[in-house]
Amino acid sequence: MTAHNPYSHGGYEQYNAHWKDIQSAQNVSNRVIFTRGHPLLVKQLYQRAYFQDICSLMGERRSSAQFLEFGSGRGTTSMYLASEGYDVSLVDRSLEAFRLARINFDNEEIDCPEMILTDVERSGIKSESYDCVFSIGLLEHFEDPRSTLRESYRLLKPGGLIFHVIVPAFPLSKMWFHNVLFALLLFAPGNFVFLMRRLSSRRVARKEATEKSGKNLLRTNHKRDQYLEWLQELGAAEVRCIPYNPYYVPNNPYYVPTARSRIAYKAILFLYAWHLELRKRMKGKRTLLLETMPMLETCYLLAGVKP
Ligand SMILES: C[S@@+](CC[C@H](N)C(=O)[O-])C[C@H]1O[C@@H](n2cnc3c(N)ncnc32)[C@H](O)[C@@H]1O
Repeated sequence: MTAHNPYSHGGYEQYNAHWKDIQSAQNVSNRVIFTRGHPLLVKQLYQRAYFQDICSLMGERRSSAQFLEFGSGRGTTSMYLASEGYDVSLVDRSLEAFRLARINFDNEEIDCPEMILTDVERSGIKSESYDCVFSIGLLEHFEDPRSTLRESYRLLKPGGLIFHVIVPAFPLSKMWFHNVLFALLLFAPGNFVFLMRRLSSRRVARKEATEKSGKNLLRTNHKRDQYLEWLQELGAAEVRCIPYNPYYVPNNPYYVPTARSRIAYKAILFLYAWHLELRKRMKGKRTLLLETMPMLETCYLLAGVKP
């Protein structure tokens, strides 16, 4: 099921080191992804859409709902919920993640929500306490995510929504469409070579960076059908595991700061924003902003309702 992966599941120290690094890194774009204004980064564009998709699936009941974010990290999605006045609590077991989340909430003058320092596999929280339990980029970090899935389901009230965004370890080759688009935006055939070199060197650099800081965080590649089956086994209704989020981040201008890559990045951000806007206008036809086709997926959305 899971291809050989040299990384182990992140323990408490590994995640703490991860969030500490982000707090002290020169690259500020990772500290806070929430934005009230126009997105200047691709991840700002899709993070807000995660929040909007949660709201769409919750429908009218969202105004009185209690939300819980599992593995909340810096609290991006919860910031959107809290800034709109929704009742949200955060669960994480990293103190450093909560430290960063608190700074982010304070800086944006959003009331800091309840932060529960516990394990998502055994939270100790009372059963059936929340109307929506969600996570963004959590389940793929467990070799076997079933206990986390079971725990999130246990905490749901009857009628409650489960919403997990999963970011699997897709091979780079899967992103060929995005990469070709990105190369075309650089307006020269020679740039395909440039792009390939850039992508592979980035990949190596990234791997070295994670190994150096000792994080070695696991990212699995379980299939969509597998997640679907696991949630069905828990007895959830309206279960779906769909291709999600077509907005691949082709290049990070802060990581490879060349003039050329900055222009290409801005062009692709513009294209994505325009595409998303179009989807919003056609929203009558689809409920979810980030639903996509398998060829374009960068994530899965695993969702279901507790009967
Ligand atoms: C990729 S991050 C999520 C990022 C988050 N969506 C954000 O916007 O910052 C995964 C988070 O899950 C937390 N985590 C991992 N395993 C956990 C566990 N067993 N119990 C509680 N939290 C855990 C980590 O500390 C980390 O903050």
